[in-house]
Amino acid sequence: KPRIFSGIQPSGNLTLGNYLGALKRFAQKQDEGIETIYCLVDLHAITVWQDPEDLKRQTREAAAAFIASGVDPTRSVLFNQSQVSAHAEMGWLLNCVARMGWMNRMTQWKDKAGKSAEKQSLGLFAYPALMAADILTYHATMVPVGEDQKQHVELTRDIAAKFNHDYKTDFFPSPEPLIEGVATRVMSLRDGSKKMSKSDPSDASRINLTDDADTIAKKFRKAVTDPAELPFEMEGLEARPEARNLVNIYAALADMSPEAVLGEFGGKGFGTFKPALADLAVAKLEPISREMGRLMADPAEIDRTLSEGAARARAIAQPILEETLDIMGMIRGR
Ligand code: TYM
Repeated sequence: KPRIFSGIQPSGNLTLGNYLGALKRFAQKQDEGIETIYCLVDLHAITVWQDPEDLKRQTREAAAAFIASGVDPTRSVLFNQSQVSAHAEMGWLLNCVARMGWMNRMTQWKDKAGKSAEKQSLGLFAYPALMAADILTYHATMVPVGEDQKQHVELTRDIAAKFNHDYKTDFFPSPEPLIEGVATRVMSLRDGSKKMSKSDPSDASRINLTDDADTIAKKFRKAVTDPAELPFEMEGLEARPEARNLVNIYAALADMSPEAVLGEFGGKGFGTFKPALADLAVAKLEPISREMGRLMADPAEIDRTLSEGAARARAIAQPILEETLDIMGMIRGR
């Protein structure tokens, strides 16, 4: 039975990359009538230091971003990870299945740990096993993510396969990463070789979901590009990562193909294209940030929504956790 699971870290400003690569698609999957479970992964967020008050606010803000992007908490299950203890428990079980060598090969670990792996938390190293736990505790079959998470979903498949092999079972289904559309890797506005990221020190490198119209317009106006006009064909974008990024962003926001965007803007310069892109982005994002603001005015209501979601999540996760423990030989009182 198809079931979608995905998550977002509530660790700061959500970006246009999170919106196009994840949130917008989460709402679409829900509207296709597939069972959808979406999680604010607060346990993942604390693998690097989070101020407790900030974490609470960011978690509520991320919940508001889901809802404002069209995720309906009555049709999807929406909750924060730490309220469903099965995630942490399954995380431990899978820590004992996953191999250190697998973790060492994760490019996100290598990027984050850099030269100072010794100083990182143990949780940051084990991060992908907890992500596997998120997915496998629901027997999810599909995981919509941006391109940067593909390796983690593939690792989840490896962990599921090793568990099934070691315990001679077919208990865990192998989840498919869903990496669809033209905005699976939205790039920085300052450097076309880097992904747009909430942790980039330069705020000008990203559009935040909470940016106002003037800020959005200014960031697009100042986005680094080459001086040439836009080409008429996609091949003309091949060696032009910054231009390609802006065309892809336009296409994703407008639900058009990049070819169609070039059909409209081919032969025109950035002096024309950037303001059009800014107008489009403002038209699409302003209703979202307005709705986020409205929701954030009632934090208690957000907390209620999350705990209702957590109860529904628990009802799915707990029996799967229990069966996993049983398969592994843990005595269960009945
Ligand atoms: P996170 O919080 O870094 O990002 C959330 C989602 O946004 C996507 N994304 C992007 N997509 C396109 N362009 C970008 N520039 C961009 N930046 C981020 C990410 O690919 C992701 O889909 N480990 C995950 C959270 C997680 C999870 C899970 C995801 C925990 N457990 C289980 C799926 C299933 C993360 O850190 O995402």
